[in-house]
Amino acid sequence: MKQLVFATANAHKIAEVNRLLQGLYEVVPMHVLGITEDIPETADTLQGNALLKAQYVHQRLGIDCFAEDTGLEVEVLNGAPGVYSARYAGPHNDAQANMRKLLDALKGCDNRRARFRTVIVLIYKGQTQLFEGIVPGHIAQVPAGTNGFGYDPIFVPQGYDRTFAQMSTAQKNAISHRSKAIARLVDFLKKQP
Ligand code: IMP
Repeated sequence: MKQLVFATANAHKIAEVNRLLQGLYEVVPMHVLGITEDIPETADTLQGNALLKAQYVHQRLGIDCFAEDTGLEVEVLNGAPGVYSARYAGPHNDAQANMRKLLDALKGCDNRRARFRTVIVLIYKGQTQLFEGIVPGHIAQVPAGTNGFGYDPIFVPQGYDRTFAQMSTAQKNAISHRSKAIARLVDFLKKQP
């Protein structure tokens, strides 16, 4: 089977992508091919960081690969925390602290509109391709639910009255930003000879 390297160390994301690409590609995590270091994410956009990660792996291994970056964009905060979602409350990607900081920033605020956005950069046969997935929604008043990770307990997708953390993995994956971006990646790959 054809192979595609995924520039991530996140086991949850690797499993998710593997499921969607089953039968089409074998998704190989970068650590399996010897890239175990953290790749610097120094760009100020999701696209910039995904590109940095994909280019890093491509330069090291010279094979087709892709990377993704995700952010939570809050309308009234002009898109923050956005590309800085993981480090919103400090350098340690502490989900509880990040959620607390965001709820504080929105205290007393009626407009709680927000969206998750995922950008995937694929380097395929030397060409760079971009795929995006967005899920609109709003920030809850208080955290609810225990499933998922990151900001899931405070994000309510549009059309639902539950947070991502109150949904099963399958329910979240059916509508999530990352699934949408991956579906576009899969569409592209299926069209390739
Ligand atoms: P990264 O793209 O994995 O670096 O994620 C950036 C930040 O957004 C981290 O704090 C993640 O926990 C958070 N995040 C990414 N995807 C999701 C998601 O599907 N649900 C909740 N939080 C997420």
